Amino acid sequence: MKILTVCVIFPLFTCIKAFSDTKKANGTLSLPSYFDDHMVLQKAPAYASIWGYSTIDDDVIVVSLLDMGGKVVRFTATVVYMGPENKAVWKVFLEAVKAGGPYSVVIESDHGSTLTINDVMFGDVWVCSGQSNMQFTLPMAFNGSKEVAESAEYPNIRLFTASLKTADTPQYDFISVEETWSVASPSNVGNGNWTYFSAVCWLYGKYLYQKLNYPIGLVASDWGGTAIEVWSSPDALKKCQIKDSTTTKPDLNGAPTAHSVLWNAMIHPFLNYTIYGTIWYQGESNSGNPLGYNCSFPAMIDDWRLKFSESNPQTSGSFPFGFVQLAPRLNDSSISTGYPDIRWSQTAGYGTVPNPRMKDVFMAVAMDLPDFTSPFHSVHPRDKETVASRLTLSGLVVAYGEVEKFQGPYPSDVKFSPENKQLTITYDMGLTNIEVRSANGFEFCCSSSQDKAVCDQPSLNSWFPVTTLTSTPTTITLDVPASCTNQHILMIRYAWRESPCPYKQCAVYSVVNELPGPPFKISLIV
Ligand SMILES: *[C@@H]1O[C@H](CO)[C@@H](O)[C@H](O)[C@H]1NC(C)=O
Ligand SMILES: *[C@@H]1O[C@H](CO)[C@@H](O)[C@H](O)[C@H]1NC(C)=O
Ligand SMILES: *[C@@H]1O[C@H](CO)[C@@H](O)[C@H](O)[C@H]1NC(C)=O
Ligand SMILES: *[C@@H]1O[C@H](CO)[C@@H](O)[C@H](O)[C@H]1NC(C)=O
Ligand SMILES: *[C@@H]1O[C@H](CO)[C@@H](O)[C@H](O)[C@H]1NC(C)=O
Ligand SMILES: *[C@@H]1O[C@H](CO)[C@@H](O)[C@H](O)[C@H]1NC(C)=O
Repeated sequence: MKILTVCVIFPLFTCIKAFSDTKKANGTLSLPSYFDDHMVLQKAPAYASIWGYSTIDDDVIVVSLLDMGGKVVRFTATVVYMGPENKAVWKVFLEAVKAGGPYSVVIESDHGSTLTINDVMFGDVWVCSGQSNMQFTLPMAFNGSKEVAESAEYPNIRLFTASLKTADTPQYDFISVEETWSVASPSNVGNGNWTYFSAVCWLYGKYLYQKLNYPIGLVASDWGGTAIEVWSSPDALKKCQIKDSTTTKPDLNGAPTAHSVLWNAMIHPFLNYTIYGTIWYQGESNSGNPLGYNCSFPAMIDDWRLKFSESNPQTSGSFPFGFVQLAPRLNDSSISTGYPDIRWSQTAGYGTVPNPRMKDVFMAVAMDLPDFTSPFHSVHPRDKETVASRLTLSGLVVAYGEVEKFQGPYPSDVKFSPENKQLTITYDMGLTNIEVRSANGFEFCCSSSQDKAVCDQPSLNSWFPVTTLTSTPTTITLDVPASCTNQHILMIRYAWRESPCPYKQCAVYSVVNELPGPPFKISLIV
């Protein structure tokens, strides 16, 4: 929404500030709400798409891109056709424009209507989605006021925040907009608690900008307390045999629960916009029933990529997708179900990304960033700087092809020596070694049974912590716990707790970039 100032001269000179959606429209022409002044269009090599509405009587729409001197640098024309919802639409692709700006986009119809979008930059457009930890705004974060003040130094980062809206059918434009395209500034980035702008989205965009040095468009479309099913299209849900929701009522906090309603209202409108990639912070609302997430999450990523690229082939069908692996929630070091399972499912059971099921996917590990005294509840840790910088490190490699070591240490080999009653984990880190910050977090599953299914039954208490650990720069050797003597050693797991360690004090980190090793479970029997 924009603030409109309406001034009345008689009887008194008074100005009234009123909120109004100010979608661009003139004569027969109009634009969806996300084509607006200060926006970012996707830069080369992709072609940015621009589309809008008209009347079927307009035959040809001409779209021109003007540089600062008013010179036309791109010119393209298109015909009007009957589009979805029986509306007359037009759509053009601007041939590849390299990063930079500002430009004006001028749209002209046969009937002489003109629309102009001013202060348009070309850069990379990232969509940021998920639940409350994505909605969590910058002023709420640690170092928030400093970050808000410094945002004035980044006028080439542009922001857009969708309003919280649901729809039963796919929408082609947003029902309303919380923050229309805005130039980064303290008031646009630091509007308030839970309003705008998303802390993780902003910081990710800022760190990217510091590296790439060209405009970044950040689109926040997120809603606290929402499960993945509401962000997934019916096609994605079908892939995982997820049945229609039994309830369509919002939950106690007002979060929607009906399947696909946020896909319809808060993602579908973007399908014909050219984007570069997506980041995602969600999963807390699925932790009560975590097992299906290993299907629903990769299926949603596949489906978003397919639907974006089908609607608009200028958005890659394998666009980069980054996510935050869930942070700790409660100060209770005994909880070993729910969050650990979701973290595992977030990687489709591979432990790391990208992997064969999740290509061009990257993640930030956050399980070592507890903030139990967060005034916003411990489920919302305030250290979003570390989250975003970890996400940027991996994003630069997966989404931008930088050759760096971007993953935390992950086992490349596990060798059990029954004679020594020891297990050695090798971390083949290539360019970097491991740093061991504590001896906590490794556990063995052992049992008189040879069936490793016992390990997944919490009531059987088959897991025993390791008490003795030795390490080299590339290996960790664990002594099998005494309780496992004369038992079958079935599995090993690491950091399998909702809140596995104090702040940045889990066991294994990479020396070079301080990235933590993600949690894992590995079977020791075939
Ligand atoms: C609307 O179109 C007319 C006719 O081309 C043009 O003169 C006018 O400037 C346009 N108004 C806006 C706000 O773009
Ligand atoms: C936002 O949260 C902070 C706590 O970090 C609190 O001090 C402040 O009063 C809140 N602001 C509003 C407007 O509620
Ligand atoms: C997902 O997890 C369930 C339960 O652990 C498992 O049975 C299933 O094979 C997993 N599916 C995939 C696709 O990994
Ligand atoms: C996207 O564009 C295509 C081709 O012009 C059109 O068929 C489709 O309805 C549009 N989809 C959306 C979501 O606007
Ligand atoms: C977590 O709980 C423990 C035990 O109750 C307590 O000693 C500790 O101070 C708590 N930590 C934080 C950061 O609140
Ligand atoms: C806050 O900023 C300071 C100074 O830049 C930095 O040292 C500190 O690590 C930041 N805090 C967090 C939680 O990131």
